[in-house]
Amino acid sequence: MYMKNTIFLILTSILALTSCQENKQTQPAEENAKTYLQEPHSYAQPNDAVITHLDLDINVDFKSQVISGTATYDIENNGSNKIILDSKYLEIESVTQNGETTDFKLGGFDESLGQPLTVAIKEDTKQIAITYSTTAKTEALQWLTAQQTADKTNPFLFTQGQAILTRTWIPIQDSPQVRITYEATVKVPQELMAVMSAENPKEKNENGVYHFKMEQPIPAYLIALAIGDIEYKAISNRTGVYAEKSMLDKVQEEFSDMEKMVVAAENLYGDYDWEQFDVIVLPPSFPFGGMENPRLTFATPTVIAGDKSLTSLVAHELAHSWSGNLVTNATWNDFWLNEGFTVYFEIRIMEALYGKDRANMLALIGRQDLEDELEALKESPNDTKLKLDLKGRNPDDGMNSIAYDKGYLFLRTLEEKVGRENMDAFLKSYFKKNAFSTTNTEDFITYLNENLLDKNNITFNTEEWIYQPGIPANAAVIESDAFSNVEKTLEEFLKTNRIDVTKTENWTPQEWVHFVRNFPKDISVEQMQQLDNTFDFTHSTNSYITMVWYEQSILNGYHGNNVDAKIAEFLNTVGRRWYVTTLFSAFAKAERIEEAKEIYKTARGNYHSVTANTVDEMLGMD
Ligand code: BES
Ligand code: ZN
Repeated sequence: MYMKNTIFLILTSILALTSCQENKQTQPAEENAKTYLQEPHSYAQPNDAVITHLDLDINVDFKSQVISGTATYDIENNGSNKIILDSKYLEIESVTQNGETTDFKLGGFDESLGQPLTVAIKEDTKQIAITYSTTAKTEALQWLTAQQTADKTNPFLFTQGQAILTRTWIPIQDSPQVRITYEATVKVPQELMAVMSAENPKEKNENGVYHFKMEQPIPAYLIALAIGDIEYKAISNRTGVYAEKSMLDKVQEEFSDMEKMVVAAENLYGDYDWEQFDVIVLPPSFPFGGMENPRLTFATPTVIAGDKSLTSLVAHELAHSWSGNLVTNATWNDFWLNEGFTVYFEIRIMEALYGKDRANMLALIGRQDLEDELEALKESPNDTKLKLDLKGRNPDDGMNSIAYDKGYLFLRTLEEKVGRENMDAFLKSYFKKNAFSTTNTEDFITYLNENLLDKNNITFNTEEWIYQPGIPANAAVIESDAFSNVEKTLEEFLKTNRIDVTKTENWTPQEWVHFVRNFPKDISVEQMQQLDNTFDFTHSTNSYITMVWYEQSILNGYHGNNVDAKIAEFLNTVGRRWYVTTLFSAFAKAERIEEAKEIYKTARGNYHSVTANTVDEMLGMD
């Protein structure tokens, strides 16, 4: 009897797997079932069979640097004999469907997409379970030694899922269109605490086993895990911070306006739907400024400046709770819907809290980033369109300032055309209509026409903004008196070699950044030296100011005040991709590539894969 069943199971599984290739995409049977768009960055065919819930049961072994365990999924089968998941660099041990062993197959490997994992299922399959482990090649995970943390006593681990890296630590349908709820049981070394993009513990527990629940459905790229010797401090009853002990008080102080930010955001575009909003400050190798993991934003320690000057990052990640996490880009070609809307929303939150001057400074810094990006992309104008075509490319290729700053400029221009009141009512309804769902560029345009433009008899060159390269002529003009004064002060200095420090006394870090960034190409080493002697940029405690100062130092061959050692030290500790690539690209522009490679030799080991991959490419390493 047992034998017979097994043979039957093997036979049906083989049949299922051999018919995979020819199997066309079937349409959902139910009237109002969701139809998923074909997309270039996932092997999943969610119209055939889709995961709806994940129950993760894993052990995290710091010694071998391996996560292993079982991922159990609830699925909805639309009459298919297989379900396809994404996987990359994973070792799959066994798979079951409805509790019985079933066949699975790992397909051909693609450098950015990984491999399709095809699992044989039956008509009535409700659940599949995959027992697996991660490997040394995993790209989402960064395992840190104690030395790479702030407190230097315990190791640390964090994940980075966006855009398509979650598949390197969990087999998953890794498409932004597929939303799941999840639970997890995570076993970690006793002295560490685990937190996820879910309901989180606020204290360590004795056995090192943590349970998590995420009841709002989210796409796979927002599943996140961090493990370290961390502690929690509340800011309000729904906001707070996690950090290593030596950072905790500073972090709480820096982010003490978080509750106010949530209130401002809610006043703009509707209720915060995720209950809790916490931020965890990670070790300095974290590759991004921030990552909007729901309920728990991941952040770089480089924004802890001591004066709240870089907290627009928190406003940005908070804004993603609406644009991105609640209303998600359907494919990575629509990435601007996530980031452009978020920058717009971020700047509106900053305006609500700190006023128009601060908001316009932020907007102008972004405007200059946009000009720099247009210059960098002048050989590939198609990449300066908001709507991208990333088929056959890694979605990372589209993750530049266009989505952010051209996206922002489009929305700001639109706001100026339709008026703020109309704009806000429109955005509020857009978030409400698409909540816990995805949208793409075309649906957005339709919604915009129907609910804002046609309704108010307004014509606007939306299509040009979205489908054409470059910046349309009607772009909003952003002005800041503060920045105009900075420019005047700089001009005067360049003319006279004298600087009136009383004029700079109350400058904010944004003004300093603007000052340093706008040095002309022919600024002399003597002038750099004079400025450094006056303002000590080389030793500024604000990471943004030092970053732009180091960039100028590299570009202009300035070597005073031991700046070269500071640059090397910075690149050996900070792994934030934007900072790191700015500096390495300055070395390349200055034809100082050998120096860059020398620094990179030791620095690379400190970088997360997303930073290392970008720098590898930049410096022409294999
Ligand atoms: N979601 C992004 C980070 C991201 C983008 C990760 C694409 C992977 C792929 C995040 O919200 C972000 O935009 N971070 C910015 C900060 C910001 C204030 C513009 C960053 O990391 O610099
Ligand atoms: Zn963002």
